[in-house]
Formats: sequence, C-alpha cells, structure tokens
Amino acid sequence: MRSHSVAAQGGINASLGEDDSWEAHAFDTVKGSDYLADQDVVEILAREAPRAVIENERWGTAFSRTKDGKIAQRPFGGAAFPRTCYAADRTGHNLLHTTFEQALKRGIMFYNEWFVTSLAKSENRICGLTALNIATGEVHGFSSKAVVLATGGFGRVYGHSTNAIINTGDGCALALKVGAPLKDMEFVQFHPTCLFGSSILITEGARGEGGYLINSLGERFMEKYAPEKMELAPRDIVARAIRTEVLESRGFEDEYVHLDLRHLGKEKINERLPGIQEICINFAGIDPIDEPIPVQPAQHYSMGGIHTDKRGATPVPGLFAVGETACMSVHGANRLGGNSLLETLVFGRSVGKAVGEYVSSVKSLDVESVEQETFETRERLQRLLLHEGGDSTANIRETMGQTMDVLVGVYRKSDALEAALKMIRELKTRFKNVSVGRSDDKFNYALIRTLELENMLDIAEIITMGALMRRESRGAHWRLDYPERDDENFLKHSLFIKVEDYIKTELIDVNLGMFEVKERSY
Ligand code: FUM
Repeated sequence: MRSHSVAAQGGINASLGEDDSWEAHAFDTVKGSDYLADQDVVEILAREAPRAVIENERWGTAFSRTKDGKIAQRPFGGAAFPRTCYAADRTGHNLLHTTFEQALKRGIMFYNEWFVTSLAKSENRICGLTALNIATGEVHGFSSKAVVLATGGFGRVYGHSTNAIINTGDGCALALKVGAPLKDMEFVQFHPTCLFGSSILITEGARGEGGYLINSLGERFMEKYAPEKMELAPRDIVARAIRTEVLESRGFEDEYVHLDLRHLGKEKINERLPGIQEICINFAGIDPIDEPIPVQPAQHYSMGGIHTDKRGATPVPGLFAVGETACMSVHGANRLGGNSLLETLVFGRSVGKAVGEYVSSVKSLDVESVEQETFETRERLQRLLLHEGGDSTANIRETMGQTMDVLVGVYRKSDALEAALKMIRELKTRFKNVSVGRSDDKFNYALIRTLELENMLDIAEIITMGALMRRESRGAHWRLDYPERDDENFLKHSLFIKVEDYIKTELIDVNLGMFEVKERSY
C-alpha cells in the first residue's frame, strides 16, 4: 500500500466514449511511444481496457461521474479523445484500495514489512527467494516454482522524482543478478509538471481540465512546440518545452514555469482537483485558486525494466515480472499518461493466469538451493552490518541522485553521459566499503536503504550505458548530439544482460504491426 500506484492521480485510460475505439487508443499509444512499443502488446492493452475499468468499478471503485451517471473521462496528453477515467485526482488510491480489498476477500497472504534479498535458482530455473523480515532482522528462504516481480519502477535513482520512496529498482536488480535481461532502460519519463522544490506530482489532469503553462513573458509557450495539442502534447514533448524555456531564460528563477489554473475557478478546482489544491497549500503555501503553481520536470516513470514476453515470462524459467518493473514493451520510448494504471490491471490479471498455468505444468524443485542461498545471504548481510569506517549510504546516494539529475536528464549528450558513467562506477567502488551505520537487527532501515542503494547503483549504471549507446533522439531519450530519430539503426529495443562482472548489450527487433512507422508531430 506504499507503492507508487497509490499516488497515481490523473486517471486510467479506456475507450469507453461513443466515438472512441480500442484502435484509436492503440494508435495513440504507439505514436506516443515514438513507434518503439510492440504493437501486439499494445493491442492487448487497448482491447482489454474497457473490461478492466468496468471490472474495477463493479468491485467498488468510486469513479467520478458525468451528469447522466457514466464514468467521467478527461482529456490527457497525446490522446485523440477524452479517454482518461478518473476518481477526482486520487484515481490510483481508489483503484489500489479496491483491488487490495479483493485480495483480502480471496484470502491472499501478505508478508508485510519484508524485503526480498535474492532470488534462488536450481537447474537453471527459479526455485524461490530469500527475504529479510524487517521487524526481526531474520533472513528466511521461501521455495516456490515461480516468482513474479511486481516491485514498481526505479525512479528514486534520480534525486528529483515524483516516485514513492520504495521505487528503488529492486526487482530489476534481482532479475539482473540471476541472468534475466533488462530492456530499454535508457527510456526514463520526466513528468513535465512537478511542484518546484519537492517534485510532488501535479497531475496532467490539471492540464486536462484546462490549465495553461505560462513562461516569464506571460506566453502560453506550448504554441511553439505542439501547436495543435498545446499543453496536452505527450509528456516527453512538454517536459522538453519547459526545460527549453528555462534554459533560454524564459523561466522563473532559472528553474520553473507556471501552471495556471486560476481561470478554471474555485468550483472546478474543488471538485476535480482537490488533492492538487491540498498539495499546493501544504507543500508550497500556494492556493491554485488564487496563484499559479511553480512547476518543473522531474523523473516520474520507468519505461524500461525486466525483459518479458506478453505473458510476463522472462527468459529465466520460473521468473515473471509485471507492471512498471517489467518491460513488456507496451510504452516504448514514452508512456502516455493514464496507461500505467491500466497496464497493472490488464497485465496483472493475464500474468497471474499465465503463472497459474506455468506452476501446474512444472515439478517442484529441491529445496537445498534455497537453503544454500539463505545461508549465503545471511553471511552477506552480517558482513555488511559489521563493516565500519567507509562511506555512508546517504553520501553515496545523494551523489548518485545529483549525477543522474544533472547528467542523465531530459537533455543528454555524450560527454555528460560519459562523466555520469565514470561517477556511477566510482560510486560502485566506494559502495564496496560502505558503512551501514547501525548493526542492530530490528527495524534496521539503515540496512534496507543500503541494500536498495546497491540495487540502484546497478540500475543507474545501466540507464547511463543505454543512454550512451542509443545515438539518436526518440521519445523521452533526447540526445543533443544526435537530435534526430534514427529508425535504420535504432528502431530496436536495447537489452542489458549481466555476464559475470560485466553488462553485455544487444539490440533486438520491435514488433511492428497495424500502424506504420511515421514521423511524430502534434
Ligand atoms: O499526471 C498524472 O496524473 C499521472 C498519471 C500517469 O502517470 O499515468
């Protein structure tokens, strides 16, 4: 319940409108992805969306309504129709609580306050995992025929992120260590409108309801960048537009632009954006009814993740992944707002079924490998806890976050990326001598933060390697030194595979389909 889904604000996409269709939703998603999404997976997402939303509504999600009682839908970036179903500006909170209730109703067992420390393999298959009970400090082994990683994104690798603090890329790092490839890791989404100072998300729904982006000259500057869609262009385009305005001295304090909601009026803001009003008052001392909101881009979503097929299976038998930690290639180079909650519902269901089929078709593996893995993990954590004298976790983490913000952000170029890679590798060396600072067992969050940092450093290195390797600009990945999209060489997914101590990179084909690859303009 502390996942980032609970904080998702603006909504979930489904082609419920009379003139809308799953094909239009699929087209917008593929175009939004800068043609890097696998079109067969996008088709499943768009076709299944109405069913997923209605199912959740029948379970009890209190969606906002139109006057005639239908689920209300608002316009969102890159969409041809108002397709985003919402529950005011707390959609994720509503969907997650409803789904959680269903899990409780079905007697699903939860291990709350546990942290997974490693995956175990036997005969090249996954046979379980080890996990730390945070309350007691004990490491336990769990044997199982399959493991499904659903650990969310890796946004906290960046210093400025909208993400929940648990979004530390642990699932990706666990998968990498057992030989599962990561995919498209260079594609990191920067949400255009995050509250200046704290990076708290100010939903795209605020622009969907009619909010304007204004620079210090008082101009609605999106006119220059996306004359048709204006503030409702896809996120990669709006984020770059804001950065450009600030870099060219048309921002405020060389940092941010204004999101102006004042013309929407008190009634609309109270009804449709109550959470945003509360966030602005509590975290910036600004009431958006009376004042514009200072906003700037910050990391928001990880398009890349663990390489899976459309059933959630990784190339490692028994290992599955779903949601933001996975890369089924449904978002390509840029995700459209409202498609991530949808991904969790559509593929959460289908991957669950696929795993059910998998476990009934394979034999149980012996438990010795899990016992051995548990023993080794206990030893590893003991060594870490007792080590003294090196760098602190907090110092390394802060430098990592700043490096990623400054050198691997909205705009990228080779010398900055090379400097970032050098720094991340230096931090990895410093980490070998890290000092946790607390050696007690119970609720040792200093230990958890250190384990997370180890995972994040692996992820930061791979994001940067991917950004260097991809010598083109596509979707959220923009190279100032290669400002064109290069379909001939890079209409490809990137793969990152750990081979002993180094990371091997490969490019693989994108599944094209009903939509022809075209130039992308809005
Ligand atoms: O802007 C938002 O409300 C975020 C939605 C999303 O990331 O899908």
